[in-house]
This record gives sequence, structure tokens and C-alpha cells, in this order.
Amino acid sequence: MDILTAFDEFEAAAMQAIQTADSADALEKVRIEFLGQKNGRVRDLQKLVGTATPALKPAVGKRFNEVRTSVTAQLEVHIEQLKSSAAAVVSDFDVTLPGERPRIGQLHPITRVITEFRELMGRFGFMVVDGPELEDEKHNFEALNIPEDHPARDPLDNFYVACASATAGGPVLLRSQTSTVQIRTMETTKPPIRIVSLGRVYRPDTIDATHSCMFHQMEGLMVDRNVTMAQLKTLLSMFARSFLGPDVEIRFRPSFFPFTEPSVEVDMKWGDNWMEIGGAGMVDPNVFASVGYDPEEFTGFAFGLGIERFCMKHYGVDDIRRFYENDVRFLSQF
Ligand code: FA5
Repeated sequence: MDILTAFDEFEAAAMQAIQTADSADALEKVRIEFLGQKNGRVRDLQKLVGTATPALKPAVGKRFNEVRTSVTAQLEVHIEQLKSSAAAVVSDFDVTLPGERPRIGQLHPITRVITEFRELMGRFGFMVVDGPELEDEKHNFEALNIPEDHPARDPLDNFYVACASATAGGPVLLRSQTSTVQIRTMETTKPPIRIVSLGRVYRPDTIDATHSCMFHQMEGLMVDRNVTMAQLKTLLSMFARSFLGPDVEIRFRPSFFPFTEPSVEVDMKWGDNWMEIGGAGMVDPNVFASVGYDPEEFTGFAFGLGIERFCMKHYGVDDIRRFYENDVRFLSQF
């Protein structure tokens, strides 16, 4: 038998033995038999290399290395295969057991209501606009016809932000109402206007079941020629019915806001109870004057509704504080 044939036979026999070994022990025996340093059959092959003629030696040496490398590689592959199948056997992982459901987050109930309000008001033709939560006194008070001595401007009734005021060069506060967005919109837009703005407002109110020091309002503003209070009431009752159901009633109570004249409190009735949900009225001519509109030409209405009140009623939540405690047991119910 010539040398190269002996190499081929060694390789075939080794491969066969590796394939049939079904345990780590059996494989180790194969390794020792074929590749063992002391008595492995590879030693005999190595001796054969020494017997080759000088002319054949390079080819024989090369083939010897190839055979040894391929057998070694195959051995390693098979060791890995045995390891992974052994791991599968000993593991107690049962693929038939029910899995653990990943916890998927969901939208906060207030966010859901805000999204729905935007869609509803969009259908009534109102565009959604945004405004800053950090405001100056011009937009939070002055342009809204709230004079300097008005109790609403008392520093103790507002969250003034000292560091922001220092860089802004004048008093800055967390807005106490979304009515600021009426001014910001009218400053940059000519009538006709139909906008809503939904966002956070801040007041140092005493916290209880229906009051929070941070809450959300939806502001609405419509300005055009011949806008009337009847349209305001129709819009608000259509809105309330779309959101809460056809039996919701709405009523206006005379009230006062410096930026509307006349002004009303808006109440809604669910079951037997009336509940105050916002303020509204016809835009005061002084407000129009502050943004450069001609009060003789245009009229408008505005309203500001408390979003938490709707959300509580809608979902049957009895305490506003639940919305902000971040208790997952509460939040996961929505
Ligand atoms: C206003 O904020 C006026 N800007 C509303 C307005 C807009 C009037 C446009 C006229 C024209 P008021 O302070 O009443 O009004 O607040 C409106 C609503 O916000 C309240 O009816 C109530 O639903 C809600 N609200 C007021 N304070 C709190 C509070 N501390 N926590 C939760 N909701 C509140």
C-alpha cells in the first residue's frame, strides 16, 4: 500500500469512528486511538512520512498535515454537537409549558381622553395647537384682561419660577390655565379661528379627591363674524354627548372671568348630579384689542374644560390622585 493510500484509509476510518461515537467518553477513546500523542495511529502515519523518497516528501508531508487537521477539526465539531444535545437532554426546559406573558405598557387614561378629545374636536372643525407650559405674565394674565391687582395674580396662588425669571428678564410662571394659548394663537393668526389646545396647567391648590396641583385643561377658541353663545352651548353639548353618551345634559351658570363677557360656568349632568367641568364665555373686547383684532368686526367664544373631571366620570375613578400615583395595579385596568 502506498503512503497516500494509507493516509486516505486513516482519514476514512477516523471520520467513521467519530461519527459513530455517541458520548463524550467514546469520542475521547476515538481521539486517543487516532490522534493520541503516544500510541495514536497518527504516529504510524508520521513514520511513513519519513520513508518517502526525497522527491515525494513535500507532497506526502502536505497530505499528512491535511489529514491530521481535518480529523482534528471533525473531532472538535462532534464534541460541540454532543455537548449541545447533552445540554438539551439534561435541561428541565419544557417547551410545552405556557410561557410568561411580557408586560406590555399602555397609554395613561388621561392620555387616552386627550387623544379622544382631539379627535372629537377635529370632527367639529377645530384645529389642535400647543402652547408653552412656562409662561410670562403677558400671556397668562395681561392680554387676558387680568389686571395687576386681580387675586388670580397673587404670587401665592401661582407657581412662579425664580431661575427661569432671572434668565427671561421678567417674571415667569407655570401657566395656571390653557387660556394663554388663546392669546398666542390670536397673536399669530387672523380670524376665522377654530382651535383647541390640550395640556397641563399648574396651581398651588389644596390637593383632595377632585383637585390636583397639576392637572389638564382643554381650551377652545372660535373667532369669526357673528359667533354666538348659542353656538357655544350647542358645541359643548354635542361634544359632551359624543364623549359620554346621549343623555348627558349641559347647563350654563352665570359667572365671571376677566377674559370673557358674558361668562359662564359649565356644568354637566350625569345621573342625578350636576358637576362643574369648566368655564366659558364670549371673548371680551379688551382681549381682542390686546391682540389687534377689531371687536366691532369679530366676535368669538372660548371655553376651558378640566380633563381630569371627564376622565374620572368616564372611567368611574373616584379620586383624582389615583392618576398620578403611578400604581401599576390601577393603571393596568385601562
Ligand atoms: C379656567 O381655568 C378658565 N381659564 C376657563 C375659561 C376658559 C373660562 C375660557 C372662559 C373662557 P377654572 O379655574 O374654573 O377656569 O378651571 C376650569 C376647570 O378646570 C374647572 O372647571 C375644573 O374642571 C378644572 N380644575 C380647576 N382647578 C382644578 C384642580 N386643582 N384640579 C383639577 N381640575 C381643576
